[in-house]
Amino acid sequence: MLGKIKYKAKQLLGLKTRESLLKILPKNAVCAELGVFRGDFSQHILRITKPKEAHFIDVWWVEFGENYPDWGAYTNYGKLKTRDAYNESKAKIDKYKANSIIHVGSDLDYLSSFKDHHFDWVYIDSSHYYDHTVKELAILNRKMKPGGIISGHDWYDEENHVHGGVKKAIVEFCTAEKWEVFYKDEFSQWAIKKTV
Ligand SMILES: C[S@@+](CC[C@H](N)C(=O)[O-])C[C@H]1O[C@@H](n2cnc3c(N)ncnc32)[C@H](O)[C@@H]1O
Repeated sequence: MLGKIKYKAKQLLGLKTRESLLKILPKNAVCAELGVFRGDFSQHILRITKPKEAHFIDVWWVEFGENYPDWGAYTNYGKLKTRDAYNESKAKIDKYKANSIIHVGSDLDYLSSFKDHHFDWVYIDSSHYYDHTVKELAILNRKMKPGGIISGHDWYDEENHVHGGVKKAIVEFCTAEKWEVFYKDEFSQWAIKKTV
């Protein structure tokens, strides 16, 4: 509760919040969020970037069954139902009456089904595993429009961090495919674009 009040106060004072990243992403765009959970960030995506086509992809019960694993308070210690998280997301997303499509299943499968050069920008916040992030980036390399932006959450410099594989995958991808990091913030978010 206190966290929510602090967050609202920051917004009112015009201070930087996690969704400040969304202000640098193109508006009226074709975009996707990989990893939706309860739709908290999805609603900011819709409110701030006003996309013309938005895809919200999460595995929910397809991967985790009835309940999320115990990820501490985040999943109410394993008591959070995947369908409740989906229903919450759907309610938040539907409120915006935008051209939004919710996909239940692996992001790798859904991303592969889009034509090449489909997306203006994509926000990755899914498994945070190194191998999986490598695969997401490899597919997105083909699916992004020229000048497109790949962004996401959970860049941590510490190699032993539980999400340390995210940064490793991004750095390797940027080096191999000639992309560059042009945005990082104190909320462990990042954004990359292809160098010309
Ligand atoms: C950190 S939460 C996402 C939080 C959300 N982006 C937000 O900021 O409110 C991570 C989500 O990724 C989902 N996920 C994990 N593996 C996935 C995969 N292979 N494809 C799509 N979603 C995945 C999980 O089910 C979980 O809901």
